[in-house]
Amino acid sequence: MDSNFEQRLLRALPSLSPEFLKKLRSGFEGDCTGHDWHHVLRVVRNAWKIQQSEGGDLLRVLPLALAHDLEDHKLEEKSVSLSEFSQELNYDRDLLERDVSKMGFCGAHGSDGDLDLEVQIVLDADRLDAIGAIGVSRCLAFGGARSQLIFHPEGEALEAKSREEYLKSCSSSIHHFYEKLLHITKHIHTKTGKLMAEARHRRLIEFLEGFLEEWYGEDEIPEELNLKRFSGDGE
Ligand code: ADP
Ligand code: NI
Repeated sequence: MDSNFEQRLLRALPSLSPEFLKKLRSGFEGDCTGHDWHHVLRVVRNAWKIQQSEGGDLLRVLPLALAHDLEDHKLEEKSVSLSEFSQELNYDRDLLERDVSKMGFCGAHGSDGDLDLEVQIVLDADRLDAIGAIGVSRCLAFGGARSQLIFHPEGEALEAKSREEYLKSCSSSIHHFYEKLLHITKHIHTKTGKLMAEARHRRLIEFLEGFLEEWYGEDEIPEELNLKRFSGDGE
């Protein structure tokens, strides 16, 4: 998708120059945590698709999707700061900073509060990329990059209640599914996003069913890993 898609993006956002896009892209080189440039482009593409049916200002959705991971404290520092980004695109810096600060996820019970439609759209787009086949891959890649085990049977999924608890939690990548990924569908805001999430949620369940069957074999799968409670469309 990439270079054709980047061309489409440049046409849709006249204030974005090819040189600046290249600089932006270079800041994501070498990321192996699943927050690479292709993740950014998928979030832009998902957000664009959602905006086409839900409405909202495309000229606010696209910059936010492009900038959403620029100042994430758990990632390497990027080649471009949010203030450079807003200056270059001639975009309201306070608005962009406010919108970017709403990105992210506070665990199973977190709530986003009241959000403008454009922010809801980009949050949905980012969350869609954390579930489905790509979500499975990103979770395992993130775990590997942080030297975290794929799974260990003594671990437990923490139902984190605060952002601090969430950031501290996680005993293995498979536990991260129970802490976060299996809860994402119920935190999708838009109707279009919810529709896009359905198949992806099912793919998470299918992956975990296979994983647990292969891990435990004939043994009983522990009750806390039972997937029945997640088998609706996101509870
Ligand atoms: P956000 O950027 O929306 O706050 P995160 O950065 O927490 O979300 O998650 C982005 C990606 O990184 C997701 O695909 C998620 O599965 C993965 N990830 C985050 N934390 C962990 C973890 N502790 N173990 C495995 N994967 C993780
Ligand atoms: Ni992201």
